[in-house]
Amino acid sequence: MQPLADVNGKRMPLSEVMIPALDRGFLFGDAVYEVLRIYRGKPWLLEEHWQRLGRSLDAIRIAGVDLARLRDRMLDTIKAGSFQEAIAYIQVTRGAGATRSHAFPPQATPLEFLYVAEFADPYAEARRSGAAVISLPDIRWDRCDIKSTNLLANVLATQAAKEAGCTEALLYLPDGTLTEGTHTSFFGVLDGQVLTAPNSTSILPGITRGLVLRLAQRASIPVREHVLKRDDLRRVSELFLTGTTSEVMPITRVDDQAIGTGMPGPVTRRLQEAYREAVHEYLK
Ligand code: PDD
Repeated sequence: MQPLADVNGKRMPLSEVMIPALDRGFLFGDAVYEVLRIYRGKPWLLEEHWQRLGRSLDAIRIAGVDLARLRDRMLDTIKAGSFQEAIAYIQVTRGAGATRSHAFPPQATPLEFLYVAEFADPYAEARRSGAAVISLPDIRWDRCDIKSTNLLANVLATQAAKEAGCTEALLYLPDGTLTEGTHTSFFGVLDGQVLTAPNSTSILPGITRGLVLRLAQRASIPVREHVLKRDDLRRVSELFLTGTTSEVMPITRVDDQAIGTGMPGPVTRRLQEAYREAVHEYLK
């Protein structure tokens, strides 16, 4: 099945979508987005993604989006293409003004764009045997909690990781605080405790992150929202990433330094299993 799109309620093949040149998503990155995983035709963690989309829209003051209608359009698109293992991408931009002007145009109508595409999982091997990552300065802005399409810093860091033969880049602030990956949340196991940075304006409140925190609690694995610093990398026994596409992915090397035994650790394995079980339950 070819990727199928919906633009303001009009369904078409993704390859036929045309976006106006003055659309502010294109000109300014004046847009927010979500990515959902679809397992066996069912969108995973739909409510959570929709709540975050509403929050992102409010944060950048895009008004007038009917979120229930947008959700129905996505569900209809999944059905129309009989998608099973897939990804849904949803993007809302502020729309197009009459001219290019930084201030919000007075009468722009938001552009509601989504597409659904089959998902060829690029992370399956890294989930099995562990990923190597590089660490890089976090040069993003002060509102990383908004899921905006301003992703240039993320793009450049991902490319640097790829060129270093790594799966992901781990970002750190000037004081050494590890924030997150370029498109993943970040966890470590230190002295038997699972740690991840508390939600703040420096990180995206990851949906998978939230689920993994709940799964750890349910499994009685000690867990705490607490930052890890670069210096802690020498002391952690395990590291892993979470995200919609990566799920729970062990990190076995950071900047050529082995983490723990250099193999995916037992806590990460338990959480991977708990994640699989949660999906399995949902699909029952
Ligand atoms: N990325 N941090 C950042 C900066 C992200 O872009 C993402 C998601 C995550 C993980 O969030 P979640 O568990 O809600 O997917 C963390 C998506 C998948 C992307 O940009 O493709």
